[in-house]
Amino acid sequence: MQINYRKELEKIPVYVPGKPIDDVKRELGLSKVVKLASNENPLGFSPKARDAVNAILTEANLYPDGNATLLKNAIAGKFGIEPEMVLPTCGSDEMVDLIAKSFINCGDEVVMADITFPRYYITSQMMGAAIKIIPLKNLSYDIERFKKAITADTKIVWLCNPNNPTGTTFSEQELSDLLEMVPASTLVVYDEAYYEFASGEGYPKNSLAYLKKYKNMLVMRTLSKAYGLAGFRVGYTIGDPELLNVINRVRNPFNVTLLTQAAAIAAILDDEFLQKVVDNNDRGKEYIYKEFGRLGIEFAKTEANHIIFNAKKDSIQVFEALLRKGVIIRPIKGFSPETWLRVSIGTMEENRVFAEALEAVLAE
Ligand SMILES: Cc1ncc(COP(=O)(O)O)c(C=O)c1O
Repeated sequence: MQINYRKELEKIPVYVPGKPIDDVKRELGLSKVVKLASNENPLGFSPKARDAVNAILTEANLYPDGNATLLKNAIAGKFGIEPEMVLPTCGSDEMVDLIAKSFINCGDEVVMADITFPRYYITSQMMGAAIKIIPLKNLSYDIERFKKAITADTKIVWLCNPNNPTGTTFSEQELSDLLEMVPASTLVVYDEAYYEFASGEGYPKNSLAYLKKYKNMLVMRTLSKAYGLAGFRVGYTIGDPELLNVINRVRNPFNVTLLTQAAAIAAILDDEFLQKVVDNNDRGKEYIYKEFGRLGIEFAKTEANHIIFNAKKDSIQVFEALLRKGVIIRPIKGFSPETWLRVSIGTMEENRVFAEALEAVLAE
């Protein structure tokens, strides 16, 4: 190729998505495949969201409301905040990207954990940031080390609570201590993609309350997980309207589609469906803990909809052996040795199929 591209992209690999179920079926000649690889919702999504999409389908010749007014109002109403504090995006993936584009100058310092949601690294790298990496401690964020690493030069601190892929959390006390020491010129991006699943003691369920005091904090959430709208692509961020307005300068004006806005409004108001999802997840994780216990497998207790475990065998080999049995999960990079994998919590039947397949693979 004769065309030079930006040198910041040299270190960025092309994202390799998990294999679609149909490809795995065809390639391995399997009739049934269970996918527990992407922390998707095993119960689907709210039937009210489906009805809302059906009702508006014939209007999809029109552009969506670029301000997503009704969706902002629904989210604001649910959490008792002003609609101006809400910004919906095409998944929170898009928001990670928009934040990086809006705030990172080449050479700016950003701070993040070593094993966490990879988009923080990729987008920061894309903008040419100087990235400070903080190793996990006992599979969790080491907030003391974060505090030591943050300086007046830090532009962004990327935090994920519960963390993907570990499912572990840090406490309200740790969050509040960190927010207190961060300079007002440092943006704290606080990603709560798995917020709805988290109920453990000390977890900061009231994170939005911190936004009143800390104008340099953005709370990111998604409807891809507990609400099951991953394929629609919708997330939202809550924070200071001035910060959100900077992001609005780089946002594609029609970033959340007409159908998605309708689905999201209905989904976010359906508390009954959400409760079913959380209950299924709670039951599923207890079952998987029990199976890991029976098989003598080390794992991290989770506050999310996924669990990491140490197979004590090469993670790629375990992943491939499970694939041959029709179970797709995800090997996790960054551990040494590379023997850890992440499984999403599914329906009880899917969890059972996973546990049986894993037992067979580990006995091979
Ligand atoms: C921690 C975290 N943040 C953000 C996302 C992006 O979610 P989406 O773009 O589907 O809203 C994910 C998806 O897996 C995630 O795990």
